[in-house]
Amino acid sequence: MKNDKAKPDSVLTHAGSHPERHNGAVNPPVYRVSTVVFPTYAELQAGASKPFDSMRYGRHGTPTSFAFEEAVCALDGGYRSIAVCSGQAAIASTLAALLKAGDHALIADSVYHPTRAYCLDHLTRYGIEIEFYDPLIGGDIAKLMRPNTKLVFTESPGSLTFEIQDIPAIADAAHQAGAIVVMDNTWATPLFFKALDKGVDVTLQAATKFLVGHSDAMLGVITCKHEDHWRRIKSAIGVSGVAAGSEEVFLGLRGIRTLGVRLRQHQESGLKVARWLQNHPLVTRVIHPALPEDPGHALGQRDFTGACGLFAVELRNAPFKAVEALVDRRKYFGIGFSWGGFESLILPTVGAIHRTATKWQPSGPTVRLHIGLEDPDDLIADLEEGLKLYEQHLSP
Ligand SMILES: Cc1ncc(COP(=O)(O)O)c(C=O)c1O
Repeated sequence: MKNDKAKPDSVLTHAGSHPERHNGAVNPPVYRVSTVVFPTYAELQAGASKPFDSMRYGRHGTPTSFAFEEAVCALDGGYRSIAVCSGQAAIASTLAALLKAGDHALIADSVYHPTRAYCLDHLTRYGIEIEFYDPLIGGDIAKLMRPNTKLVFTESPGSLTFEIQDIPAIADAAHQAGAIVVMDNTWATPLFFKALDKGVDVTLQAATKFLVGHSDAMLGVITCKHEDHWRRIKSAIGVSGVAAGSEEVFLGLRGIRTLGVRLRQHQESGLKVARWLQNHPLVTRVIHPALPEDPGHALGQRDFTGACGLFAVELRNAPFKAVEALVDRRKYFGIGFSWGGFESLILPTVGAIHRTATKWQPSGPTVRLHIGLEDPDDLIADLEEGLKLYEQHLSP
């Protein structure tokens, strides 16, 4: 970056951009590459001394992936970033690289379910002790620290249930016990939550969501605050083979350029729809940390600079066929996993919330909404129609 004090939107627009390296082209070309050839064996060998900084082999990175990593790192304010082939690869690779047999890891009870599954189904097989903690524990996490606690995994807000974690308090307690703090920062992105400034050591995102932003690529990215963490994770990724594809990093970099305007629109439309839902008689609760009524609001105001358009609603109790009537064949809301694209999505979360350290018992069915870039009035009209169908299944 030309100017270290640049504001976030200027960082988004210019970070990682080097037209002078690409004949003046604003965007770096997509390097489709496996083999990289060298004129002499000595030059091939010379690359071995700086394995992560030049093009040596497709799996180790290309000018396109280096540009994407540079842009994300500038936004995160970290030491260096690493692009991988999905958000889940970012999570699994980070945990696998930083933990070893005999270590104890504390994982927020509200994490994305595949994070929980990876910990339970895989890390435990390698002799790593996994313990889930109440995401609202704050500084009391100090009481869960053991001599072998090496890592605390956070995700804020939590997946599906949207609890805001007190990241600075958790990080403080973890660091006092010598543990590394990792955060899944996919919801806010570093534009709305500066994880590394709040005490996190390794922050990661499913770039599949807001960075790519158009529902057309799988991508993950990890940013480390410290060189030794970066080196451990980067080395592990080199041999586990989960490098990001060339087209995907290009799409991730292109998405970053418009992240600011998209995210602010998701935020504005999301809040408009959320406020409308709050006043609907069939909605018992809107679970959106940026609403003043939300229990996470005060912490959110303190630590976040914005909110995306992903939140949940709890509905008046009704049989599941009511939920199907609400979500099926909406005009604008597709039913699907993932989020962060330009299009709105709706997903029933009944039965999808898994807890072991805490209880999460809604009084009725829950549905997650991703508010896209459509006109929010059209989205409200679409939901209004769906809620009328929902009502038909309520007992009189
Ligand atoms: C919070 C969160 N983290 C990580 C992931 C995984 O990302 P990906 O689908 O790119 O593997 C997801 C996907 O939905 C997610 O919601």
